Amino acid sequence: MDFDYLVRKAMEAKEKAYAPYSGFRVGAAVQTASGRVYTGCNVENSSFGATICAERTAIAKAVSEGESKIVAVAVSSDGENITYPCGICRQVISEFGNDETKVICSNKNGQYKIYEMKDILPHAFAGEDFMTKNKGMNT
Ligand code: THU
Repeated sequence: MDFDYLVRKAMEAKEKAYAPYSGFRVGAAVQTASGRVYTGCNVENSSFGATICAERTAIAKAVSEGESKIVAVAVSSDGENITYPCGICRQVISEFGNDETKVICSNKNGQYKIYEMKDILPHAFAGEDFMTKNKGMNT
């Protein structure tokens, strides 16, 4: 896993951000189990709640191409401070990742820190939590 490369791809993806409301551009790069990398940016909306974060844009691209196992996600932004995925994105990463999925959080200069999902979303809620309790939903 090449963390420098993933952060570079996230920084590149940030250039495509559609962020006229916050002015805060975010880019993400998702590496899947096949080794492929999918990028995304934040896509804002005048109805703010309809905004999609960069991480979820990238994940939707990967999943819609048939790639649903995420091994790493890099995030980059315009901030001086390192940017971490929001709570909703952590939940979405956990849907397609696992405890060891790497989350590489960087700032606008490309300085980064590496975490694992188990550290930034401990005790994640997962499908198995209710699928096993509701036999009717087991497939
Ligand atoms: N944003 C992301 O794209 N990813 C995150 O993890 C944090 C927030 C975006 C959403 C919105 O367009 C802007 O940053 C300000 O919240």
